Amino acid sequence: MIVYKSAEEIELIRQSSLLVGKTHAQIARFIRPGVTGIELDRMAETYIRDHGATPSFKNYNGYPFTLCISVNEMVVHGFPSNKPFSEGDLISIDCGVFMNGFHGDSAFTYGLGTMLPDTLKLMKTTHECLLKAIEKALVGNRVGDISYAVQQHAESNGFSVVRELVGHGVGKKLHEPPEVPNYGKRGTGTLLKEGMVIAIEPMINQGKREVKTLADGWTVVTRDGKPSSHYEHTIAVGKEKADVLSTFEYIEEAIKGNSNITLR
Ligand code: MF3
Ligand code: CO
Repeated sequence: MIVYKSAEEIELIRQSSLLVGKTHAQIARFIRPGVTGIELDRMAETYIRDHGATPSFKNYNGYPFTLCISVNEMVVHGFPSNKPFSEGDLISIDCGVFMNGFHGDSAFTYGLGTMLPDTLKLMKTTHECLLKAIEKALVGNRVGDISYAVQQHAESNGFSVVRELVGHGVGKKLHEPPEVPNYGKRGTGTLLKEGMVIAIEPMINQGKREVKTLADGWTVVTRDGKPSSHYEHTIAVGKEKADVLSTFEYIEEAIKGNSNITLR
C-alpha cells in the first residue's frame, strides 16, 4: 500500500535527503586515482553518524556497507573495496540515510580523469534521463510517464535500460510502493498523487541491457562488461513541478576543487 506523506513528513525526508547530498559532497573531495572505496565508505559512515543519522543501506537485507560503489561494468550495489580507483574509471556512488524516522536516497556517477567520449555521453544522457523523469513526476500523471521518459531518452541516444532494478517509494522504509521502472508506456501504472515521495533512479548501460548478479549476492554487473551509469534523486510529486528533496548542489560545489573528476 502506498503511504502518502504530509507536508511535515516531506520536510523530514528533505532533511534526510539533504544529508545524503552533503555526505556525497564530503567524500567527493577525496575521489582520485589511488583512493579505495573502503576509505570512502568509512568517511561516509562517520559523517552520517556525526550528524545524528544512520546509514540506510548498512544491514538492509544484510547489505554490509554504508555506500554502494559501482565501478565501470558494475551497475549498482557494488561493495566498497580495497582496489584503488584508476584514471578512466566510471564510479557510481549510492547513499541513503535514516534520520528522524525517514530515509533519503540519492546516487551520483563520477568520471575519473580522461574519459572515453562514449562513456562521457553515457553519464550525460543518464543524468538527463533523471531530469526528464523528474519533469513527469506531477500530480495526475502516472508512473509509466516517468518510465517512458527515461527509456525514450536513453534508447534514442543508443543506450539501454536496466529492467531488473527499479526506483521506489521512500519514507519510513527505504523501499516502499510504488515501483518506478525505467522503462514503460505513457499513461500506464500507478496514478501520481499529492503526498507521494519516490526515488527515481535510471540505471543506463552503454551496451546491452542484460545484467547479472555476482557471487557476493549483491553486485549487479552488465553481462557484456560495458560501463553503466546511475543517478538518483528522492522527490515529492508536485502539482506544477516536482519537489526535488535530494540535491547534487553540494557535490557540484565540492568537486570544483577536485580536478580529478570529470562530469558529463
Ligand atoms: N538506492 C539503492 C536502492 O534503492 C540502494 C539500495 S542498497 C541496499 O535500491 F543495500 F540498501 F539495498
Ligand atoms: Co534507491
